Amino acid sequence: MIRASRLPLYGFVLGALVLSGAVAQAQQSSMTVDPALAKQGKSLFQKKGCNGCHTIGKGRMAGPDLMGVTNRRTGEWLKRWIKAPDLMYDSDSIAKALIADFAQLAKMPNLHLSDAEVDALVNYLAQESQKKH
Ligand code: HEC
Repeated sequence: MIRASRLPLYGFVLGALVLSGAVAQAQQSSMTVDPALAKQGKSLFQKKGCNGCHTIGKGRMAGPDLMGVTNRRTGEWLKRWIKAPDLMYDSDSIAKALIADFAQLAKMPNLHLSDAEVDALVNYLAQESQKKH
């Protein structure tokens, strides 16, 4: 009898644990933004022509709307993709799904960016993605 009455408590504790795990994961994916890098990223986004194929929060063009992209992908994935998308076309399952959805016109080209430029761009995308939540 005593045990049975404790069951709902166990359920509650278990639920709370699962929930706190989910919260931890959500926090992990929203990265800390370096404002100086984000500023560089903003000008690179224009200078390197990202804005020719992408908006951030204004809908899809040749490529996906990048609003929230730092919440739906890891920083590590984004860096690899922006650096060399062509190396992921055939091997990465997320890339394959994106290409199936978007590559009617063009696949995202390899823009030969440096690691520092990629880092700045990811900071900019994170900053923009965190603005409207
Ligand atoms: C010629 C058009 C074009 C240019 C220029 C371009 N992209 Fe893309 N981008 C795409 C397309 C198309 C996709 C979707 C995958 C595919 O089909 O290759 C994509 C996908 C992405 C993704 C993944 C989006 C998601 O939902 O996961 C990111 C991030 C991204 N681009 C960032 C950039 C950045 C940063 C630049 C500038 C350095 C850039 N892109 C330049 C066309 C472009």
